[in-house]
Amino acid sequence: MDSIDAKSFRQALGSFTTGVTIVTTVDQDGNNVGVTANSFNSVSLDPPMVLWSIARTSSNIATFTSASHFAVHILASDQDVLASHFSKRGVDRFAGLSPSRGPGGVPLLDGCTARFQCRMAFQYEGGDHLILVGEVLEFDHHDREPLVFKGGRYAFALPKASGPIPAVDTSSAPGAFAPDFLIYQLGRAYHQLFARLRPELDRHQLGIADYFALSMLGVRDGRTVSELDRLVSYSGNHVDIGCARRLSDLGFVDIGSQADARLTLTSQGQHVVVELLAAAQAANDDAENGFDPSESRLLRQFLNRVITATDPGLPSPWSA
Ligand SMILES: Cc1cc2nc3c(=O)[nH]c(=O)nc-3n(C[C@H](O)[C@H](O)[C@H](O)COP(=O)(O)O)c2cc1C
Repeated sequence: MDSIDAKSFRQALGSFTTGVTIVTTVDQDGNNVGVTANSFNSVSLDPPMVLWSIARTSSNIATFTSASHFAVHILASDQDVLASHFSKRGVDRFAGLSPSRGPGGVPLLDGCTARFQCRMAFQYEGGDHLILVGEVLEFDHHDREPLVFKGGRYAFALPKASGPIPAVDTSSAPGAFAPDFLIYQLGRAYHQLFARLRPELDRHQLGIADYFALSMLGVRDGRTVSELDRLVSYSGNHVDIGCARRLSDLGFVDIGSQADARLTLTSQGQHVVVELLAAAQAANDDAENGFDPSESRLLRQFLNRVITATDPGLPSPWSA
């Protein structure tokens, strides 16, 4: 490569975003072999054929070139650790895995977006790589987001919205709060969403603390006032005995007789929780109208990161 700079050539190639696969086979002694590869591509629909290329420097080149079969696993978005693992030398790549077997005894991994089980059809010279073409004998496909490799990093695939995406206004006077301020965005989104629940709360004569107490009892019934108070503290609200009595007077909970007694939902209370949940779900759905499922999943992942980064050690209603 005289006139082409290897580093910038590699960088330019890296701008071609791909999925990530693990290609597996067995060697002549029956040992499992697998390599992370993003050189995978489709070749032919009829007959069904796919290809990938293996570096001549790969320690597994002899195994793959003499293999009768191989399996290509299109990795799911949560399999980046597996992808890294199958690109490392000097590790047992199959440690802790219990692969099933495909044609030719090739190991099949679970949790992927798709798997193509192939018979080795052709091999071609490809410079410092060898191009391996497989005829697909069997395949399976699952509704999982694929892992993406972009610019040398693992990434998520996000579809472009079909309509115009409202631009985030980042203009502000120096030193002033800006419209893309996270507290503003999260706060406004929360209050606008919560406003959708107000008519439902009013209909049942519930205050905000009552709502939080009921929703926590909906997650797990039979909590004490102090447990509920601690659980809802993330919201800045408080559950006290006054709140518990109000819910009891409304007929939504039974309060035990001992001090710091447990609150249990009555059947009427359970009914109200279901109605509140339905209203909250409808508000959620409307807020995410037009979101692709992958965007919704990503939004939740980002919000969880913000929650974790700012958590002073509060309990989670789902684990406490
Ligand atoms: C995202 C990613 C894509 C890769 N794609 C290929 C590929 O297409 N072909 C290949 O031979 N190696 C590829 N590699 C490198 C191999 O996974 C592996 O690191 C290398 O072959 C050294 O291990 P080996 O000697 O066992 O093959 C890739 C690595 C990563 C992390």
